Amino acid sequence: MDRFVIEGGYPLTGTIGISGAKNSALPLLSAALLCDGEYVFDNVPNLRDTRTMLRLLGDLNAHGSIDGSVLHLQVGESANRTASYDLVKTMRASFYVLGPLLARYGEARVSLPGGCAWGPRPVDQHLKAVAKLGATIDIDAGYISARCDKLRGTEIIFELSSVGATGNVLMAAVLAEGTTVLENCAREPEIVQLTEMLVAMGAEIEGVGQSRIVVHGVKELHPVSLAIIPDRIELGTYMIAAALVGESIRFDGGNAKHIGIVIEKLREAGCQIDVDATDTITVKRPDKLHPVDIKTAPYPGFPTDLQAQWIALMTQASGDSLVTETVYLDRFTHVAELRRLGAQIRMDGNVAQVVGNIVLKGAPVMSTDIRASSSLVLAGLAASGSTLLSRIYHLDRGYERIEQKLTEVGAHIVREKEE
Ligand code: UD1
Repeated sequence: MDRFVIEGGYPLTGTIGISGAKNSALPLLSAALLCDGEYVFDNVPNLRDTRTMLRLLGDLNAHGSIDGSVLHLQVGESANRTASYDLVKTMRASFYVLGPLLARYGEARVSLPGGCAWGPRPVDQHLKAVAKLGATIDIDAGYISARCDKLRGTEIIFELSSVGATGNVLMAAVLAEGTTVLENCAREPEIVQLTEMLVAMGAEIEGVGQSRIVVHGVKELHPVSLAIIPDRIELGTYMIAAALVGESIRFDGGNAKHIGIVIEKLREAGCQIDVDATDTITVKRPDKLHPVDIKTAPYPGFPTDLQAQWIALMTQASGDSLVTETVYLDRFTHVAELRRLGAQIRMDGNVAQVVGNIVLKGAPVMSTDIRASSSLVLAGLAASGSTLLSRIYHLDRGYERIEQKLTEVGAHIVREKEE
């Protein structure tokens, strides 16, 4: 296992290029299972999670070859319709193959994802919706088996806004017989891109990017070529790093429109942020960082995937702030690790009261999930002395070349083998 040794206290300056979005790549690759042929995906991030998805697709007779960030995926008919426990337990997004397998073959067997570091993470909304489309669902030996002769259009009202359930059910509905009306859909840019990919494949969908989406089932789809959208969470993480320790950092290849609320909150904190016509974003740290409260919410609200990083930032603000988590109420495993660096954070249910003006000091800390880990990297950059961050395989799941990108703008981060 690898770990990072982070020497804090170095200001960052320069340019960071933003990679393709992990959370777009995973559903888009799953959508390719809907129809045979050759797909070409550009701007694919080279991440542990994209490699895991390719292993899963390989089991389902969809074989990829990567050249840089371009992926050629050859999809053929598959006799296997199972996503195994070994893969689903390392990456919950494997669950995305449920919808396409069911739509295409009338059959899918997918390991039931367990809980995770941030709570139970149920899949009830996925299952209720595919059952309403006509599938029979059984749970046996830790696997969900879904079967149907034919999926039939219906009305589905999601009880909450779920990125995964919206994506999975869209992929199931495109080949269903008749019309499916989906209410209370997630509107994240990654879901918008999935919907656009399905339309490009020949699906008939109204309401792209809306909370009400109408899908008219079609008999056939065709393969497509497309470029994955930029990773707004990677961009947001590095923008917060810039607010924390950056003198001036420029971001190339991101999409400022996908991160409007974060830009607004960083400006409230005193950062100077410029966005030009080509979406190049420059962030300049203020002399004095103001405390700013945030509350996570589904898009276009403040992303839960940037909550941990915001807490790290607020330890350096000139006063106290409140960080409220409304999407995953238990998503606070980073708090205990940030405290090891000297952070003072009081928890009251799903609200973190973050004390500002803290002098952070390097210490050994541990990664617990992708975004908790990136908050520890940011805190380590702001701390004095060395921070030893172990279990960084979590970071490798979701951040392409993170230590290289940060080192290029002046950070001191070395990857080494853990003893
Ligand atoms: C996706 C993202 C993840 C992000 C999350 C919220 C991917 C691969 N992952 O996860 O990084 O943090 O969106 O923006 O894109 N829920 C239910 N029942 C369900 C499904 C969800 O109760 O059947 C709840 C969840 O527990 C959570 C909320 O709905 O409280 C939102 O979850 P959801 O949007 O589904 O998250 P994911 O798609 O798993």
